Amino acid sequence: MEELKLKKKGVKKMPLTDKDIQVLKKKYTWPQMQPEFSPVEWILDGGGKELVVNRICKDKPFLIIEIGCFLGSSIKKWFAVSSNVYIIAIDPWEGDWWVDYARMHGRHSLTAQFARENGPYLTFLSSLWGYKERLFPVRGASPEKLYELAKLGIQPDLIYFDSDKTGMDIEIAHQLFPDAILTGDDWTWGIEQGYPIREAVRIFSKDHGYQIVANRATWVLAQTPLKLSEKIYNMLSFARDFNRALRRFVK
Ligand SMILES: C[S@@+](CC[C@H](N)C(=O)[O-])C[C@H]1O[C@@H](n2cnc3c(N)ncnc32)[C@H](O)[C@@H]1O
Repeated sequence: MEELKLKKKGVKKMPLTDKDIQVLKKKYTWPQMQPEFSPVEWILDGGGKELVVNRICKDKPFLIIEIGCFLGSSIKKWFAVSSNVYIIAIDPWEGDWWVDYARMHGRHSLTAQFARENGPYLTFLSSLWGYKERLFPVRGASPEKLYELAKLGIQPDLIYFDSDKTGMDIEIAHQLFPDAILTGDDWTWGIEQGYPIREAVRIFSKDHGYQIVANRATWVLAQTPLKLSEKIYNMLSFARDFNRALRRFVK
């Protein structure tokens, strides 16, 4: 009964074991020395991350997986609210777009840094160097890396999706890690395409009996009836959508 209650709340029963930590440390290694790449702060934040912060404070996850990490701004946020959480960071950190993206934003020295061999990856490692005891960099794409982690017997308590905005890996993540709290970004991304992440999240929630809470760009799934504060977030989210749609219509 107790186990069922915990499961319903999305709370994992067992802490991450020393063996899990050793397995992760061995497979997802850091270089001996901090890469000679300048650490970079680049915050990508569409808002609403307090939804995730609240879940971390309430449910005290031992292990988070973040899918789509860029230069780690949200990872730093999760570390700031929990002094003992471990985080697995999944991202390919590759492609020509990094250089173009930095240039487009006028980040000239970073443009040059990204253009170096393994530039995005080594910039990420250098920027997150201070967290290396509790951070596992997993270079590659989801969902492939989710399967790899599941094969290692790793079970995260919370998964934050912030990658390609399709949500195609949500169902897979749930199949592999059924107890994990599911949350992510991009709720307000892509009005022209009909907010693609919303469709994936809504279909998943309907199929599995979850309720969605959305606040600005952030969404989180709940298995318990929504609290008043969560209903208010959803009402505000709806009002902002309406406002955005109206402005587009009037333009
Ligand atoms: C919007 S950024 C993430 C922002 C990040 N969470 C932060 O706090 O700054 C999207 C990231 O997703 C990564 N990405 C794209 N497709 C991916 C995939 N299939 N699996 C993992 N990461 C992916 C990109 O390389 C990029 O770094």
